[in-house]
Amino acid sequence: MSSSLRDDDGVSNPSDDALHLNTVVERALAVNPARRRLMLGGLGAAAVPFLAGLSACGSDDPAPSPAPAPGPAPAPAPAEAMLGFTAIAISSADDIKVPTGYVATAFIPWGEPIAEGGPAFKADASNTAAEQELQIGDNHDGMAFFGFNTAGNGFGPRSDEGLLVLNHEYINPEYFYAPGSDASNWMLPFSYEKARKAQAAHGASIVHVRRAENGTISHVKNSPYNRRIHGNTPMSLQGAAAGHALMQTAADPAGIEVLGMLNNCGNGRTPWGTYLTCEENFNGYFGWNGAHTATALENRYGLSAGGSGYNWHLVDPRFDVNANPNEPNRFGYIVEIDPFAPASKPVKRTALGRFKHENAELVVAANGKVVVYMGCDERNEYIYKFVSNGSFDATNPTSSANRRLLEDGTLYVAKFEAGATAGDKMGSGQWIALRLGENGLTPANGFHSQADLLIRTRQAADRVGATMMDRPEWVAANPKKAGEVYVTLTNNNRRGGSTVNNADGSTTAGSARPPADESNPRSNNVWGHILRWNEANGDATALSFSWDLFVLAGQPSVTGERAPSSNINANNLFNSPDGLAFDSFGRLWIQTDGANSNTGDFAGMGNNQMLVADPVTKEIRRFLVGPSGCEITGITWTPDRYTMFINVQHPGELGSHPNAPKKADGSAYTDNDIARDPTKFSTWPTPNTRPRSATVVVRRTDGGVIGG
Ligand code: FEO
Ligand code: CA
Ligand code: CA
Repeated sequence: MSSSLRDDDGVSNPSDDALHLNTVVERALAVNPARRRLMLGGLGAAAVPFLAGLSACGSDDPAPSPAPAPGPAPAPAPAEAMLGFTAIAISSADDIKVPTGYVATAFIPWGEPIAEGGPAFKADASNTAAEQELQIGDNHDGMAFFGFNTAGNGFGPRSDEGLLVLNHEYINPEYFYAPGSDASNWMLPFSYEKARKAQAAHGASIVHVRRAENGTISHVKNSPYNRRIHGNTPMSLQGAAAGHALMQTAADPAGIEVLGMLNNCGNGRTPWGTYLTCEENFNGYFGWNGAHTATALENRYGLSAGGSGYNWHLVDPRFDVNANPNEPNRFGYIVEIDPFAPASKPVKRTALGRFKHENAELVVAANGKVVVYMGCDERNEYIYKFVSNGSFDATNPTSSANRRLLEDGTLYVAKFEAGATAGDKMGSGQWIALRLGENGLTPANGFHSQADLLIRTRQAADRVGATMMDRPEWVAANPKKAGEVYVTLTNNNRRGGSTVNNADGSTTAGSARPPADESNPRSNNVWGHILRWNEANGDATALSFSWDLFVLAGQPSVTGERAPSSNINANNLFNSPDGLAFDSFGRLWIQTDGANSNTGDFAGMGNNQMLVADPVTKEIRRFLVGPSGCEITGITWTPDRYTMFINVQHPGELGSHPNAPKKADGSAYTDNDIARDPTKFSTWPTPNTRPRSATVVVRRTDGGVIGG
């Protein structure tokens, strides 16, 4: 049950006719794959007469069969392979590499107009804040494709036309701002206008896309569905924490409406056709001017006087904690957006907890409860799941009742245990409820209401003794095995000490040094690993699970505690797994955001990349390598899987890349240098232009399914 409800394939399908046509198409293509390209135009009216004939090809469709054509019967179609492509080599080049037989095309880079008549991108980065609000945002991240229904006016099963919804996580100031008058710092003088421009480049884009018969994707610019949601878009606070005193501000005394969402990292999707976007490192946008003693809550979420360098708090009082002490409490949530309702107000779902959300993997359990798996991405933070109180009605997927399922439920946090055998990197685990009055979450311990508990989710998880993990990134559920769930633990160079989480909520996770344990077995885990668990009885709502390690990344030459697992070899080296998703066939796609120096610990790993794994055999093959300085993140497919979309985030980030530019004296370029010479390192994807985050459309030249 869960697979058809969760995945791109078979998402809620309000039209029986559409379902029928899809079924017919798939049957026809299974018999004769050569006809595939002819059908890529989708399920529009023009395709219907053709389908009537195809339906005779081995289907049980009642339509009358035409006389068989003379000549030999078509050859049986080859079965779809789990890893049906030739692995590619690493690369440190400034372009995209994909396997033979595939094409990768950049699409909707930062700064392109979101709709017809919008302001054009200025290559010198001089677009204004007002213009940026009408342009594609920066640092593309999580993403989902929502097909239209046959009528073209709502959510449905179509692959030829739909809405691509993608996150814009942050900005790269060195490329985002045209240099100012200060030679030592291109960002100076900083201004309210500059802060507003950055806020406008955050959030999400909803882009109406259409696929041509040759498989190319275009942006339908005159569509009413094209929409930017950004750091100043009004959105509702909903759930138990909405309206709590900690949510109230001078601008919003009721504590129910917040402006904007920030640091939207990974994503999720619902079977009722909405997009889930996840606020991650929101703390970095806040700071304070003048004296301030941070509260325990502010410390636990990493707020600091200077923030992460955005400088908004210097020019926009909303981000000055001294001026607006509760404003940070209104960030750090899962936000639900209905892409098919352009006037709808996004909703921050407080029931799913407040932390540095990576993604939100939603499955429908066998009993109909909606379960959302989530990681909190910081060193030594926790893994969570939400279980709805209500049940999903599969007979009417887009019903108003289904649309309220994320309003309330129980939030749990994971505790990983060594299990029956010590040292085998397998074990058991428990989900511990973060519910007022249980597990020590009582007024005596400082938790006075469920609202208070949710706003302080990390501290509640400290109290119940959750397991500190090696930076939980994306979570992905296996559509072919109920209850099996994977998580990327991207890396952690701060393990190997003796610190533990503090029950009083004063845990300093990011700077803690917990001991290695079986689920995080390396004390200097610079390469990362992927852990998977199986819920008891395959039930996503279960309170216990078993777990094992799917892969430990690293160098095969390394032995002892830091050795990688046996499914790592010279041909599939990578580090820092981050993005993670299953396609509806059951392939596990792994995206990386790690070191690209290609030397030392990272020799043979090249630029950040995407690999595909067989979840049964654990074989892993490299499928794609990104351009210089980027990470690969975000992944989605059309329901037919003939088109795959991924994102290239922050191309041109200097880091320790082997081709990063050097000055005449041999020293490395600083951000101030590259800001004044922005084409010196990367020009991906627009020639002779500063690097720009962009979506990449991947298709097969023969029109086949991606990866198969
Ligand atoms: Fe935004 Fe943890 O990656
Ligand atoms: Ca064990
Ligand atoms: Ca990420």
